[in-house]
Order: sequence, then structure tokens, then C-alpha cells
Amino acid sequence: MTAFDNDAVLPLTGLDLLTTTRAVRKRLDTTRPVSRDALRECVRIALQAPAGSNNVSIRYLIVDDPELIAKLGALYQAGFDVYRGLDGIYIGSIHKDDPAEAAQQARTAASAEDLAEKMPHMPAIVIGCVEGVTRPENMPGWVTASMHASAMPALWSFMLAARLHGLGTCWTSVHLQQEQAAAELLGIPYDTVSQLMLTPVAHYTGDTFQPVTRPDPDTLIHWNRWGH
Ligand SMILES: Cc1cc2nc3c(=O)[nH]c(=O)nc-3n(C[C@H](O)[C@H](O)[C@H](O)COP(=O)(O)O)c2cc1C
Repeated sequence: MTAFDNDAVLPLTGLDLLTTTRAVRKRLDTTRPVSRDALRECVRIALQAPAGSNNVSIRYLIVDDPELIAKLGALYQAGFDVYRGLDGIYIGSIHKDDPAEAAQQARTAASAEDLAEKMPHMPAIVIGCVEGVTRPENMPGWVTASMHASAMPALWSFMLAARLHGLGTCWTSVHLQQEQAAAELLGIPYDTVSQLMLTPVAHYTGDTFQPVTRPDPDTLIHWNRWGH
């Protein structure tokens, strides 16, 4: 017996889980509620992730109140509007020479637009936070990086656990432009807690997802020394 409810999860292999957990946007079902039990179980699983100094500094702010989600969704949309105006950074403005990659980029942009539109209607939104302030300019880079890195694995694990529970997620960052406003809306102590990301959580339509094309590993690996 483990502390985890194995009966409640999809029978995916580890390879399936790692290669088919996608950024789900268009297929998020906004009409179906997400149970708190499932969300709690995903957090329980995610907390097996590593943390610096074995200090669990991650916090999950789970919003399932429709009024708050509507307001948070509007903050997300405001951030997305700014992002859309940033030529060269906005996903739809990144130039790809390869026609297949350009088409993929256009699909991702359309999907991101769709998510922005639907965000105020999600059944649940999770904001990944870290206890501690990662913003001070005089903080050494390695400390900030370690604080972030203590939370990121557990956030990705949360998304993998969600997939096992038949729930779709999408890592997003544009609401962080409105971090302070989100903190005020949700009572997050802005001076002691940093928000790192936001993900919608919803059941998805359809059955499964597919691996996508990614760069050849040999174009990204440096063996022993940079450039080799
Ligand atoms: C740091 C980070 C920030 C992201 N921000 C956003 C965002 O603000 N909005 C959004 O729709 N997707 C966002 N994404 C999702 C990426 O677009 C997505 O992971 C990428 O397109 C790969 O998708 P795939 O795994 O389904 O192929 C973000 C992903 C990461 C890792």
C-alpha cells in the first residue's frame, strides 16, 4: 500500500506520460468541474519532487471560486494583451524559416489566443508560488535560481499528476506582469511570497495526446566543454 490512490489514475507508462503531457488549451473543457480531491491528490504526488535544502518552499494557490477566476482571468488577458504587442517575443511573431515549424508556431499562437479568451471561465486555476521573495535586485543569482528551482520540479510534477488524473494544464507566465494585482485579489503576501507561474486545470476533451517534434538532442548537448 502506498499513500497514493493508484486506482484513480490513467494507466500510462512513464514514457507515455513524459512524451504526451502537452500544453493543453483548446481541449480544456470549461463546462466540467474539477474535484478538490483530485487537485489535492495531484499536489500530494507533486510534493515528492526535489527541493533545495529539503525545504518545501512551494505553495499552491488553487482558485476554484468562479468570481475570483473571472477576475484572475481578466488579469491574465491584460498580460496577454501586452505580450501580444511584443514583437519577436509573442509566440505568433517568432520567425521560423522552416514552413512546418512556422505552421506549428501559428497553431500555438492560435491556441494561446484561445486560452486567453477562455481563462476567465476555467473550473480551476493554480498559481505556483514560492515562500520567499525572489525579486530583490541584490540577491545573488544562484540563490534566486535555487529558490525558483525548488518549486519548478514540483510544479511540473503537479502537471504530470494532473495528466494522470485526466486533467489538462498549461504552464503560463503572462499574468506575472500583474503579479501585484493578482496578489491583492487573492490575498497573497506580496512581500514574502513570489508567484512563479499560473496554470488552468480542467478535464480535456478527446482521449489522448501525441509526442511532438523537438530538436535533435545532438544540436543541444555540449559534451564536457561548451561547443563540443
Ligand atoms: C516559462 C513558460 C512560460 C509560458 N507562458 C505561456 C503563456 O503565458 N501562455 C501560454 O498560452 N502558454 C505559455 N507557455 C506554454 C508554451 O507555449 C508551451 O509549453 C510550448 O508551446 C510547448 O507546448 P507543447 O508541449 O504542447 O508542445 C509557457 C511555457 C513555459 C515553459
